[in-house]
Amino acid sequence: MTGAVHTPRDGGGANRRTPRVFSGIQPSGHLTLGNYLGAMKRFVDMQESGTETIYCIVDLHAITVWQDPAALTRATRELAAGFIAAGIDPKRSVLFNQSQVPAHAELGWIFSCVARIGWLNRMTQFKDKAGKNREAASVGLYAYPTLMAADILAYHATHVPVGEDQKQHLELTRDIAIKFNQDFGVDFFPVVEPVIEGAATRVMSLRDGSKKMSKSDPSDMSRINLTDDADTIAKKIRKARTDPEPLPDSVEGLEDRPEARNLVNIYAALADTTPGAVIADHAGQQFATFKPSLADLAVAKLAPISEEMGRLMEDPAEIDRLLGHGADRAAEIAEPILARTRDIIGMVRSR
Ligand code: AMP
Ligand code: TRP
Repeated sequence: MTGAVHTPRDGGGANRRTPRVFSGIQPSGHLTLGNYLGAMKRFVDMQESGTETIYCIVDLHAITVWQDPAALTRATRELAAGFIAAGIDPKRSVLFNQSQVPAHAELGWIFSCVARIGWLNRMTQFKDKAGKNREAASVGLYAYPTLMAADILAYHATHVPVGEDQKQHLELTRDIAIKFNQDFGVDFFPVVEPVIEGAATRVMSLRDGSKKMSKSDPSDMSRINLTDDADTIAKKIRKARTDPEPLPDSVEGLEDRPEARNLVNIYAALADTTPGAVIADHAGQQFATFKPSLADLAVAKLAPISEEMGRLMEDPAEIDRLLGHGADRAAEIAEPILARTRDIIGMVRSR
């Protein structure tokens, strides 16, 4: 039989009332302070607010560029350990790796038939990641945003916390939902809200205030890894590039001082306060004074996470068990949504 096409009245569409949060992080390389402040710490806040939260380790996205198989396995477990150490409770949030839930890949294919080549051609992350030799980039790297839309929409998620760099991908997700709904005359997929807020939506490199802090930067001194020990964190902050001026007495005084602004933003995000409050407390300070305070704060906040990650990594079988449990829960939500998607498209369903 072919199932009925579900219309807006079925309650699963864009006007779904219950908020549901979804976000993902790639298991490639080590987690950075940028991931922690721009994403994970906020994921924990959303979990604590009592909203339904789904967090995914996006291994299918990671393989859009070459990953050594053993390194991928390790990075996946390390990321799971990072989530848990940062405060994600696998009982309260759904935590899993993408490849264990086939709905992502299937809906990703469907969305690659909805999205237009012209839309993907505008994606700046592809241009950055593919570099000069675009012809040699994988097809997956190009289609990446359609899979990301599938991640989110397979759960009818309504809110997506991410860093600033993902804004364009979320706009594409909205465009895909709108086009699918229009093409098929339904109100099925929600038009998601990006949640890009806080002092650290764009943590910059410690070596260059115009570049984002990234897992893939060749210089390890450019980033703080969640696995760095206290001495390494302190050294990286001490050596962070700055200008010779003392800290200004207002946030406006940070304009045109990207390195200074970055350190103030990092301080504010770690201390759960605003850049204005940090400036109020540290106005007129030289970096020789401010950097050690920042290093102390960073060590105080990050060292417990790094220790807990290390402890969790001693039992990989337990991590795998938790991910499997998360994948079962994720599939329970995504499979009915996929079944309805196939119905809407007109695919024959015999079972
Ligand atoms: P990725 O490591 O690229 O999978 O990113 C995972 C999440 O971390 C996404 O929400 C990113 O926007 C966020 N993120 C990555 N790097 C940074 C950064 N330097 N500043 C703020 N957020 C970041
Ligand atoms: N593209 C995101 C990044 O690189 C990771 C990601 C994949 C994601 N799927 C997602 C983020 C769904 C939010 C929602 O940071």
